[in-house]
Amino acid sequence: MTITRKAKMILEKDYRISEVDPRLYGSFVEHLGRAVYGGIYEPGHSRADNEGFRDDVASLVKELRVPIVRYPGGNFVSGYNWEDGVGPKEKRPRRTELAWRTIETNEVGVNEFSQWAKKVNTDVMMAINLGTRGVDAARNFIEYCNHPGGSYYSDLRVSHGVAKPHGFKLWCLGNEMDGPWQIGAKTAYEYGRLALESAKVMRGVDPSIELVVCGSSNRAMSTFAEWEATVLDLTYDEVDYISLHTYYGNRDNDTPNFLARSLDMDQFIDSVVAICDYVKAKRRSNKTIHLSFDEWNVWYHSNEADSQIEPWSIAPPQLEDVYTMEDALLVGSMLISLLRRADRVKIACLAQLVNVIAPIMTETGGSAWRQTIFYPFLHASMFGRGFVLQPIVKSDRYDSKDFTDVPYLDSIAVLCEESDALTIFAVNRNLEGGLEFECDLRGFHDYRVVEHIVLAHDDLKATNTARQPDNVVPKANGKAEAQAGQLKALLPQASWNVIRLAKSCL
Ligand code: AHR
Repeated sequence: MTITRKAKMILEKDYRISEVDPRLYGSFVEHLGRAVYGGIYEPGHSRADNEGFRDDVASLVKELRVPIVRYPGGNFVSGYNWEDGVGPKEKRPRRTELAWRTIETNEVGVNEFSQWAKKVNTDVMMAINLGTRGVDAARNFIEYCNHPGGSYYSDLRVSHGVAKPHGFKLWCLGNEMDGPWQIGAKTAYEYGRLALESAKVMRGVDPSIELVVCGSSNRAMSTFAEWEATVLDLTYDEVDYISLHTYYGNRDNDTPNFLARSLDMDQFIDSVVAICDYVKAKRRSNKTIHLSFDEWNVWYHSNEADSQIEPWSIAPPQLEDVYTMEDALLVGSMLISLLRRADRVKIACLAQLVNVIAPIMTETGGSAWRQTIFYPFLHASMFGRGFVLQPIVKSDRYDSKDFTDVPYLDSIAVLCEESDALTIFAVNRNLEGGLEFECDLRGFHDYRVVEHIVLAHDDLKATNTARQPDNVVPKANGKAEAQAGQLKALLPQASWNVIRLAKSCL
């Protein structure tokens, strides 16, 4: 039986949350599994360029218009010696990599990655190792990367064939340092002190950088909130952003509950904003700390397969989640959550980019294709730049195992003034039928629907694979219509919708 639900939204042209920082559409490449080796880099592949980077993968990355990519980890960074990845490739050591229990060949290091980043028109968000290392390595590394020349490490870079400094602007002070799984995990006090002293020397070398301090690994950590408060208290004056990470799964196959998980993300963001502002108030500071949601995605499909992987292999297929239609819906909602708090979330990284819990998959020696989650990210990155409008939403609701009052409609809108374009992103969480959607467009009387893109599939478990890369693809077949400031649409059952409006010339 089909059950149609209803929702209404009001948008007012001048009621704005914030301008979107384009870095909200960042991503992440870790030395993990086949993200680097067999992913972005595969010398010998028919589509590899002279440096060994795959052109087919690079074009899919470019399609996503990712403005920043976090590198090289992740858990990997907490045991990483950056010196292993520079200089002549034949002299680089092979190391046991303890985070993921593999062998790291170091064929790709900071200089190669920076070259790849240029190829795909992105900036690098560099992370330093605060697990096994500290102040000294941080100082040397930033000197190698950002100092023009005339000093030991900058001259070393020049001797490696990189005359111009990389000038990386955004740096992460370690990764998930609260997690017991982290190499060199620390208490909040231990980490806060180390992050502060590392930040000071890094800014000493390059005062123009921005720094991200580690928040909790997720909202369920027992130290959550206390960790943020302690770390920020110690580092407040030296850092610009605090990190948030979250991954969701549908292990018990409870899709209504799974689709509601973005409500947890909303609460996580609101809580971290509150903690930042509590520390600000306590310190009588005028400075505001912003949020870097630098790991977020769905992650659970590959857990079982990963437990079978033989340790100490090179670039094994790890964390290779094959995403479903329902995963794309949650990713769409997570993007809406990030946009909803664009006033405070300035950076976000979809974790990750290629092969490892990624929108882009490859076969080693074979093709590259778009996973289901590629599409909501693509649409948000393409059409979600400008000003986020403050929506008023009235929607039918449901209760699930972990959430009450879940609105069937999850929606946000972004106005690009330069092109007079208004885009409404909307997820219909109703699994039993369509959603009758009405939107009162105040101040947009002369706007008409240009296109209503829909991503939906009869089977919520449908995936895209090497053999069937276009099984789940968006279609511009939605029927939204707008007249005199009133928009009406029937959002199909369990769908991701992009309703694009533009000022009419008539
Ligand atoms: O993205 C995969 C892993 O998830 C990262 O290495 C780590 O930071 C997080 O736990």
